[in-house]
Amino acid sequence: MKVLITGGAGFIGSHVVRHFVNKYADYHIFNLDKLTYAGNLENLKDVENRPNYTFIKADIVEEKEMLRLFEQHRFDYVIHLAAESHVDRSISNPNDFVFTNIVGTVNLLNAARSIWNGETERKRFYHVSTDEVYGSLDETGLFTEDSRYDPRSPYSASKAGSDHLVRAYFHTFNLPVVISNCSNNYGSHQFPEKLIPLFINNIVNNKPLPVYGKGENVRDWLWVEDHVRAIDLILHIGKTGETYNIGGNNEWKNIDLIRLLCTIMDKKLHRETGESARLITFIKDRAGHDLRYAINASKLTQELGWQPSLPFETVLEKTVDWYLENTEWLRNVTSGDYKTYYERQYTTK
Ligand code: NAD
Ligand code: TYD
Repeated sequence: MKVLITGGAGFIGSHVVRHFVNKYADYHIFNLDKLTYAGNLENLKDVENRPNYTFIKADIVEEKEMLRLFEQHRFDYVIHLAAESHVDRSISNPNDFVFTNIVGTVNLLNAARSIWNGETERKRFYHVSTDEVYGSLDETGLFTEDSRYDPRSPYSASKAGSDHLVRAYFHTFNLPVVISNCSNNYGSHQFPEKLIPLFINNIVNNKPLPVYGKGENVRDWLWVEDHVRAIDLILHIGKTGETYNIGGNNEWKNIDLIRLLCTIMDKKLHRETGESARLITFIKDRAGHDLRYAINASKLTQELGWQPSLPFETVLEKTVDWYLENTEWLRNVTSGDYKTYYERQYTTK
């Protein structure tokens, strides 16, 4: 089997690539990535010389190049993760999100369609998406696979557009697709612009912890390795044309999560209790900030037998350990002209 993983040099993609290279010696894994600011081949040092792994540097927005690569390699499975993925960046520059997330996805769909040519046996186009396509919840309720699409940021609107296209190719062209919509991931190798790695990095460097609004927004946190196990199951035994929601059943108000992280960091850095929390700085809210995301993952649990694994506190602590042991990785990926939302708003002109 030839398996194409797009976005494999990014956070989730690198975990997916490692898992498939290690677990499936009889598959050949192709990692296609443009290596944007978020893609980093250092994430995959441990598998780069494996005989069943090939890296391809390419941009999914290049239609002809996608057709050429699919013709050349004749992929059987596509696991599509390549995307612009950060909501704050989608507010300051929406166009990149439309190009990569929508145009890039349709280019891959066309390329798969052209080589599979109506064949569905042992072929699959797996589109990895987000729960943010469903919009924002109030204090109660959970997103199910039947929740109405109501994307509210340029990021989620672009992912919703790509989801619709993937479904349209199933209905119109019988392309063997499957989609999953997952909640917020955390774990090692996440670019330090997302909440958890950004705050770990800032605490280490004694920089402010910029909490948007009052910190009352809620996210449902899932360990990236649990997401990877779900992807493996859905790819192999999920039903063609179906959507599966993936979530950790693990809701946290931002401010409560941040305080827990501060407590862990005080302990790890041998600081006095409360020292890290003193870095908390409430700032102007994100524009259109979705209040709450939470997933009902019972379809995945009941039909495919998936469960999130370890308790959150334990894995969060393991995650902190990884960042503290990999300060060089952190330094490398944050080098260059990269500025967080907070830095762009408050410390530069
Ligand atoms: P990421 O930003 O860490 O990685 C994205 C990867 O895609 C990078 O390696 C980047 O170089 C690559 N890429 C970007 N544009 C490209 C292009 N035009 N051509 C080829 N490669 C390109 O993202 P992530 O957090 O790992 O998310 C991966 C996928 O999972 C995305 O589709 C995202 O929408 C989805 N998702 C993420 C989360 C989360 O919490 N991070 C939750 C649910 C779903
Ligand atoms: P983030 O990790 O960007 O993921 P998403 O916006 O896709 O959910 O943000 C998680 C939550 O943390 C979200 O409610 C926004 C908030 N947040 C902050 O309060 N400060 C920050 O610096 C960042 C990056 C996020």
